[in-house]
Amino acid sequence: MVLLPRGRTDQPIGSQATTYLLSVVMPVVCWYTGIQPPSFFYYETMKIFLDTADTQLIQDGYNTGLIDGITTNPTLIMKSGRDPEEVYQELIDMGLTDVSMEVVGNRKEMYEEGLRLSKKFGKNATIKVPCTPDGLAVCKELSRQLVRVNVTLIFSVTQAILSAKAGATYVSPFVGRVDDNSFGGLCLIKDIANTYAKQNWKRTEILAASIRNVRDVGRAFEYGANICTLPPAVFNKMYNHILTDKGLQLFDEDWKKTQELIK
Ligand code: E4P
Repeated sequence: MVLLPRGRTDQPIGSQATTYLLSVVMPVVCWYTGIQPPSFFYYETMKIFLDTADTQLIQDGYNTGLIDGITTNPTLIMKSGRDPEEVYQELIDMGLTDVSMEVVGNRKEMYEEGLRLSKKFGKNATIKVPCTPDGLAVCKELSRQLVRVNVTLIFSVTQAILSAKAGATYVSPFVGRVDDNSFGGLCLIKDIANTYAKQNWKRTEILAASIRNVRDVGRAFEYGANICTLPPAVFNKMYNHILTDKGLQLFDEDWKKTQELIK
C-alpha cells in the first residue's frame, strides 16, 4: 500500500508540496504512533474486483472484506436476467463504491447514457466504453467531466495508449481472450505496464480482465496490473493450497493431542 492521495494521481488534494510532505510525514507519524493513516491518503494497489452481475455471489465476496469493486458487461447482465440498474443499485446499497456499467450504441447514445448513469449513481459509477473511435471520444468527454471511465476490449498496447490519451481511469486488457487466440495475454499486461512506466503515465490503471485461473492473477499483478477483475469462482480459489490444507489438518490433530496430554 502506497501513501498517496486516493484515486487518480492527476487530481492531487492541495499543492504538490503539501501532498509530498503528507506522503512523507504521514507514514512516519503513523509508524511512530501505531495509528492507521486516514483512508483518504491511501492509493490502494493490488485491487480485486469481481466480474459478475450475480448479486448473491457478489454479497458473499464483499463479505470477505477483500473486494474493491465490480465489473459488469452486457453478457453478465443478460446472464443475471435482471434490470441492470436494479443490479447497480443493489451493489451500491451493499457498500460497493466502484461499479463498472457498460454503455452501448453510437457515440451520442453512449455519451448520454454514460452521463445519465454517472448522475444517477454518482461517484460509485465507472462508465465502461469499448476501445473504438466513438468509445474513446465518449471517454474523453466524460473524463473531462471527472467521470471515471473504464475502456474495455483492449487487445493491444496501442489501444491502451489511445485510451490513456483519452483520459481513461482504467484500461481493461482481456487476458483470457488473448490466450484463446494463441497470443500471450499476460505479456499484454506486461507490455502495457512497461509502456506506461517508460512514459511515466500514472493516470490510467491497468485492470486485468478475462482472467480464467488463479495463476494468472498472481502473474498479472507481478507484471504490473493495478487491478484484477475475477469471476467469483476464481477469487474463491485464491485462498486454496493443498499444503495449507495438509498443514492445517496436522495442526488440528496435534492441538487435539496436546489437549489430551494436558488433561
Ligand atoms: C471485463 O470487464 C469483462 O467483463 C470480462 O473480464 C470478460 O471476460 P470473459 O472473456 O471471460 O468473458
